[in-house]
This record gives sequence, structure tokens and C-alpha cells, in this order.
Amino acid sequence: MEPDFWRQRWREGRIGFHRADVLPSLVRHWSTLGLPAGSTVFVPLCGKSRDMAWLAAQGHRVVGIELVGDALHAFFADEGLTPGSDRIEAASSTLIRHRAGAYTLYEGDLFDLDAAMLGNVAAIYDRAALIALPADLRRRYATHLDCIAPMASQLLVCLEYPDGEHQGPPFSIDAEAVAALYGAARVEALSRQTLPKDDGPAGVSVLTEAVYRIGPR
Ligand SMILES: C[S@@+](CC[C@H](N)C(=O)[O-])C[C@H]1O[C@@H](n2cnc3c(N)ncnc32)[C@H](O)[C@@H]1O
Repeated sequence: MEPDFWRQRWREGRIGFHRADVLPSLVRHWSTLGLPAGSTVFVPLCGKSRDMAWLAAQGHRVVGIELVGDALHAFFADEGLTPGSDRIEAASSTLIRHRAGAYTLYEGDLFDLDAAMLGNVAAIYDRAALIALPADLRRRYATHLDCIAPMASQLLVCLEYPDGEHQGPPFSIDAEAVAALYGAARVEALSRQTLPKDDGPAGVSVLTEAVYRIGPR
């Protein structure tokens, strides 16, 4: 999707992907990564997800990246935090880095974020990031994550629905596609559950959430 697609969605408040609560599957599965408190978690395409606050409450530092600054400002406001902000020159654009409390949230394009900006990351939490990307960007996304966070394990949350019932995003991504992106040997399926249809896009007849643990590269 073009950046303007997402900017328009946020401007118009069409953010049905945002949850007011913490994702239950995050709470259920996070301990399987076995991370020490104080380690850093990267949340790509973070929006204003409440999951970041839950991760911080577990003692993690949280680094996120999001195209739309308003989403990040809304997150900090919800947390009662006023971030300090500076500009970071990336290869092909300028990112804005917002920092407060346990959070370092970059405003800009994920593909402009490099390993030095990210720092030492123990884990990646992907909810509604991979499934937000069209097929032609997913390989680049997975390769980029491996490149900027090579030592990180990952908790990945995907949605599946029958072919042709929705154009996406969110896109339906099954276990075979996840194995093709990250390598079957790295991928462990943790859970599958049918979600209420209202949790997904209109017109989808069956909605399934699948959660994976992905080992470091
Ligand atoms: C489906 S939403 C999910 C947000 C969040 N993960 C959540 O669970 O609420 C995808 C988000 O990714 C952002 N986004 C899309 N492409 C991006 C990119 N290339 N770099 C950074 N953010 C991006 C969009 O603005 C949008 O907020």
C-alpha cells in the first residue's frame, strides 16, 4: 500500500485494526519467547497499539516504527507521556524519533530504519504488520527484519480467511506462506483459533487467528 493509503485511513479514523484492549494471544504466548525483563522489543508498523504498553509493563523497552505521526502522538497521549523528538537522517528520508518512558517510536518508513537506529533487539512483535502488506512487499519486509534485527526471535500474529472474500489489508497469510518467508525450520505454530467475524473485515465468512514463534535467523 502507498503511504497515502495509510495516512488517509488515519486521517479519516478508518482504523478498525486498532484494539482498545491488549491482544489476548500476546498475553498468552509472550512468555514462550523467554526474554529477560529489560530487553528491547521491536514493534514494526506499530500504530498506536496498546500492546506496546503491555510489553513495557512486562519490563521491556519498546522500539516501534509507524508511518503516521498522529498515531504515535495518540499513543503517547494515552500513556500520559510527552516525548522529546529529534530528526534522524536515513538513507532516503528523514525519520522522526520520539522518546519517552520505555518507548522509542520512530515516525517514518520501516524500510528506512537501519540496524544502528534500532539498536540491540531481543524480539520482534508483529501483530497486523505482515498481514498489512501486499504480497510483493512481504519478502522485502521479512528480509529487512532479518537484516536489522538478526538476533531477534519473533511472535507473529496472522489472520486467515477464505480466498477471494476480501482484497486486503488485512491479507490472509497461512502457515505455508509464513514458512516460505522465514524458513520452515525457524517457524513454530503456537495456536489457531476461530475469531468472531466482527473482528475481521466485512464479507469474510470464517476468520482464523494463527500465532507463530519464529526463531532468530
Ligand atoms: C494494520 S495497521 C496495524 C497497527 C498495529 N500493529 C496494531 O496492531 O494496531 C498497519 C500500520 O502500519 C503502518 N504502516 C504501513 N506501512 C508502513 C511502513 N512502510 N512503515 C511504517 N509504518 C507503516 C500504517 O500506517 C498502519 O498504522
